[in-house]
Amino acid sequence: MFKKVPGTKDILPDEVSSWQEIEKVSRSIFSLYNYKEIRPPLIEEASLFNRSLGPHSEIIRKQMFIIKTKEDIYALRPEGTASIVRSYIENNLDKTSKFIKLYYIGPMFRLERPQRGRLRQFHHIGCEAIGSLDPGLDVEVISLADGLLKAYSIAGYKIKLNSLGCEKDKQGLGAYLTAALKDKLTKLCGDCGLRFKNNVLRILDCKNETCKEIVSGLDIADTYICNECKVHFAKVRAGLDLLRINYEPTPLLVRGLDYYTGTVFEITHPGLGSQDAICAGGRYNNLVKELGGPDLGAMGFAFGVERLLLAAGNKPAVVNANLVYLIALGEESRFESIKLLDNLRKNKIASETDYEDKSLKGAMRQANDLGARFVLILGEDELKKGVITLKDMSSGKQREVRSEGLIKELC
Ligand code: HAM
Repeated sequence: MFKKVPGTKDILPDEVSSWQEIEKVSRSIFSLYNYKEIRPPLIEEASLFNRSLGPHSEIIRKQMFIIKTKEDIYALRPEGTASIVRSYIENNLDKTSKFIKLYYIGPMFRLERPQRGRLRQFHHIGCEAIGSLDPGLDVEVISLADGLLKAYSIAGYKIKLNSLGCEKDKQGLGAYLTAALKDKLTKLCGDCGLRFKNNVLRILDCKNETCKEIVSGLDIADTYICNECKVHFAKVRAGLDLLRINYEPTPLLVRGLDYYTGTVFEITHPGLGSQDAICAGGRYNNLVKELGGPDLGAMGFAFGVERLLLAAGNKPAVVNANLVYLIALGEESRFESIKLLDNLRKNKIASETDYEDKSLKGAMRQANDLGARFVLILGEDELKKGVITLKDMSSGKQREVRSEGLIKELC
């Protein structure tokens, strides 16, 4: 028997309704904020991600699904931001509308060690607003993430917020960390040993207890943030305060991808264990230019849908509350039921019948399991009389109705 690839998941029919619900809610909230959907391909040139996320990021070093053809090296996309910026530039979207708000829903791929909430194929619901440096946009993007969580009825989450400052500020902080950690190298974990050489900022959010202790002894404050970035961040915070959005200033939040500058945030949920981030995002003011486009500020985020569902808890499968279940007894009735079902569906009445030759009792049980609102029984007697038996499943009452008047009765 074949088994699914580790770290992938079959989204079974019982679960699909929760996915559809989350997608439906997301689309309606995105449209409230005037975001338009974009659907880039799932494969891109591998070098796009290398350039955007940084060669020393965890994703590039360890987690890329690479596809080699004779001439090219492609990658299954590990995230959406780089693809969307590529698409924005390649399709000249800046020429038609310099400022644009885009959202996306779809699978992402990372070659991770699978565990609860950490998959190799997972799904993002994300957005990217490209073409503005306005701090009001940061406020709107974070409030959109908050609004989505409220619309999903998820509570108890925490928004962690920080500013990395501009590229120059990041370099300043990097230089300070290199100097401050030089003597402590032997005490850092293996990963941080590597980060020290390639990606020193990431030592700040290492989860290893010893690294955390070393980092807590450092004086990082916001000394490395330039005045312009400080003013920007103060405006972002003031805007969030105005909207009464709760957030926790988190100076050690650095995020793992090179493209981030300025405001960064992460939303965690206590119900998720070690993989507790349900959403992450921030500004990437240099990426559009870096990938060959104009010099434009941008900001976005992505929710991990599997983690959202874990945070939401296992909701019962949604039943089709208006389903009509048709039980046809006998050869002639069965033939007649083909037309009847077709007619119900043409009149937009969701309907199902028994294709397993069940007894009347078995078919009634099936109708009950499906949560049907009405059961229709068409036997020889009914056929002769030109009627159909209509049973209301909530009251248990049943009566005969004329076949011609059935649709009216059900609408
Ligand atoms: P990220 O933090 O890599 O950011 O991913 C965003 C979210 O995707 C995470 O917070 C988590 O919920 C979910 N996630 C990530 N990896 C996995 C996994 N292996 N299994 C299940 N869920 C996962 C980004 O991807 C950025 N592109 C976000 C962004 C958009 N920044 C600006 N715009």
